[in-house]
Amino acid sequence: MVGASGRMGTQMLRLLPEFPALQLVGAVASEQRAAAGTTVSSGDGSVLPISAALPPLLAGADLVIDFSSAGAAAAHLAACAAARVALLLGTTGLAPELSAPLAAAAEVIPLLVAPNTSPGVNLLLELVRESAQRLPAGYDIEIIETHHRDKTDAPSGTALALGEAAAAGRGSRLSELAAYARHGHGSPRQQGQIGFGVLRGGDVVGEHEVWFLGQGERLLLKHAATDRSVFARGALLAAQWLAGRPAGRYAMRDVFISGYR
Ligand SMILES: NC(=O)c1ccc[n+]([C@@H]2O[C@H](COP(=O)([O-])OP(=O)(O)OC[C@H]3O[C@@H](n4cnc5c(N)ncnc54)[C@H](OP(=O)(O)O)[C@@H]3O)[C@@H](O)[C@H]2O)c1
Repeated sequence: MVGASGRMGTQMLRLLPEFPALQLVGAVASEQRAAAGTTVSSGDGSVLPISAALPPLLAGADLVIDFSSAGAAAAHLAACAAARVALLLGTTGLAPELSAPLAAAAEVIPLLVAPNTSPGVNLLLELVRESAQRLPAGYDIEIIETHHRDKTDAPSGTALALGEAAAAGRGSRLSELAAYARHGHGSPRQQGQIGFGVLRGGDVVGEHEVWFLGQGERLLLKHAATDRSVFARGALLAAQWLAGRPAGRYAMRDVFISGYR
């Protein structure tokens, strides 16, 4: 587990006993954390030291779960590919330059890139895609997201993924339809736009609403995360699904469609 000392890592370690098929064989975090001699408990009672180096741990591993830092993703990806160990990459904000290394790694290892591991959000993505496809083109689509006051990126990665799903349902790309900012006068809504609204405040874990607004009716699809453990549990479900698969590039959609089995 890479990022074992972080918020996601800590939650996953806490939930690990619910997943008897998964056994922790190594824990990785930053150099400072490793140098401080920090340890983690593996759920079966044993205690492991946190290491700063992933490659030496891979000989004894079937799968790596990485929720750490976007800046370190390239090195972790290369290490897993070289050692032929499956990788669940949950870290977000991956650089566009990682596209080619991700594609190359997926030739030799099972690779699941999972920017949102919540089962509910992954179902919502499907519902949004289908709704956008089935409703008449005249229905306006608006996405509203709410997060805690400390979140720095906007709109959230999940809001953007919902926008991409809505655009795909309409046979298009979000980059062609998105309206991220509205202010001032004289700019009415354009047909086909996908609009975004962003709210920030308090301790909101994450809420996403997708509105389809037609003449005489509105359809609202909404997801609310009430506890970060939903992402940790979803990640462990996905890890269990990924272990033992053939090499290839997978997404949470594949996990979801196969019913997590
Ligand atoms: N896919 C999802 O559903 C989902 C859900 C939540 C979060 N995330 C993403 O997961 C990532 C981690 O989130 P978080 O909230 O757990 O962050 P966090 O609390 O800041 O934890 C980050 C972890 O990564 C470690 N780390 C940092 N730099 C590293 C490096 N160079 N090499 C190895 N380990 C390193 C940290 O170690 P130290 O303790 O030593 O600093 C810590 O264990 C973020 O990208 C976040 O956006 C994804």
